[in-house]
Amino acid sequence: MTDQPRVLIFDTTLRDGEQSPGATMTHAEKLEIAALLDEMGVDIIEAGFPIASEGDFAAVSEIAKNSVNSVICGLARANFKDIDRAWEAVKHAARPRIHTFIGTSPLHRDITQLSQDAMAEKIHATVTHARNLCDNVQWSPMDAIRTEHDYLKKVVEIAIKAGATTINIPDTVGYTTPRESARIIEMLVNDVPGADEIIFATHCHNDLGMATANSLAAVEAGARQIECTINGLGERAGNTALEEVVMALKVRNDVMPFATGIDTTKIMKASRLVANVSGFPVQYNKAVVGKNAFAHESGIHQDGMLKNAETFEIMRPADIGLTETNLVMGKHSGRAALRQKLKDLGYELADNQLADVFVRFKALADRKKEVYDEDLVALMRDTVAGEELDRIQVKFLRVICGTEAPQSADLILTIDGTDRQVTAQGDGPVDAAFNAVKALVPHNARLQLYQVHAVTEGTDAQATVSVRMEEDGRIVTGQSADTDTVVASCKAYVGALNRLLVKRDSGRPVSYKDVG
Ligand code: KIV
Ligand code: ZN
Repeated sequence: MTDQPRVLIFDTTLRDGEQSPGATMTHAEKLEIAALLDEMGVDIIEAGFPIASEGDFAAVSEIAKNSVNSVICGLARANFKDIDRAWEAVKHAARPRIHTFIGTSPLHRDITQLSQDAMAEKIHATVTHARNLCDNVQWSPMDAIRTEHDYLKKVVEIAIKAGATTINIPDTVGYTTPRESARIIEMLVNDVPGADEIIFATHCHNDLGMATANSLAAVEAGARQIECTINGLGERAGNTALEEVVMALKVRNDVMPFATGIDTTKIMKASRLVANVSGFPVQYNKAVVGKNAFAHESGIHQDGMLKNAETFEIMRPADIGLTETNLVMGKHSGRAALRQKLKDLGYELADNQLADVFVRFKALADRKKEVYDEDLVALMRDTVAGEELDRIQVKFLRVICGTEAPQSADLILTIDGTDRQVTAQGDGPVDAAFNAVKALVPHNARLQLYQVHAVTEGTDAQATVSVRMEEDGRIVTGQSADTDTVVASCKAYVGALNRLLVKRDSGRPVSYKDVG
């Protein structure tokens, strides 16, 4: 325990993160992420935007029912229908919160066609309505940073008087700087009547790469809640990364003496889980959780590290749950060793899940002499992604390729339980395999991205393939890893198609940017 001021961590991976194009998560994936956020000590989980779709509503309700310690929050635009729907979903939580917002900057007032006074009235009415339903209400003036300061102070005061318990100050377009972020919070803390009775939150986007700095500056100026996402997931350049602000407050506690309730040893597990389910890989040199964040390549660094790790390391890998074990896995490794290794990597599996992963692991170890941590992470990604998304599965693929065109692919897909077979040709083996999939599952989705990465080194390395496609504004991603690049490509393509089917079934969701 510490007597330092506490900064609340508000995670919006499942709302602001999930609304970024292509980062769609399934119901089961959302529940899994929420359970981990709760376990790691996240104070408030923004579980979704309940009015957006039936799927969002169901996910927020179930996350609320399963919640243990975290406050569960649902987003609502500034109208009674949205607010009622959010309440219906979060009311099952032990500690529910309604988060309602409206764009207050001149640009947003132009869109909503509301005068300053009309908007002020709307804010009063909607926050009052939310507070009559729930005693924990957060209000956000969207695009606060570009809102006239006098008007911002006025609407914040109205929201506080109407019963808001948290006032969030969003930098919606990632435009602010650390000094400005701090000044705006300071201004509100000092000038708005009632400011001492509520909590100020900071919500930053990373368009200019300053989200972490802006959030920390806001805290130094008086904000006591940081809104963030795992891996900085979010639209455009993303949101403030949870792992960055939490580790900055821990490592530089000497100059920023604030405490969070986060168990930092769960950070790596959360990062891997979110990367896996969102299909957004973590960049290698990403602060805190990137693959190279603790890698010391140069001779001087390695020498220093061997003598004293603190020479070049400001935090220990174990602080974020990155445990290095010497256990290299191979085809003779047994079930117990696999269970232990996966536990070290942050995956705790039930017996039936382990049995399934063990079969895949053995198949991989038969093809690859040494199975590295990265291989197992890729294997787990396929396992997580495979659940609940299995309307179409790749059963068999054989491609004929080489210098003589055309290349051809024999493919069997299991579609809703029935095997369907086709042979197709293409310009190269991947094109042939994709054409075969298209022949069996006709669709109009456009391939936006096809990317291949080697998971480890060596010619027997697995390839991770990422695919992104778009159909009628719906963007989906698929990822898969295999020692055979064409198999990985085909599975990634089918994975994206499975997500597309889920999206087609759940209709077109409302965006929080739609004026409501
Ligand atoms: O960035 C933003 O303004 C938001 C609001 C809905 C809080 O995400
Ligand atoms: Zn946002």
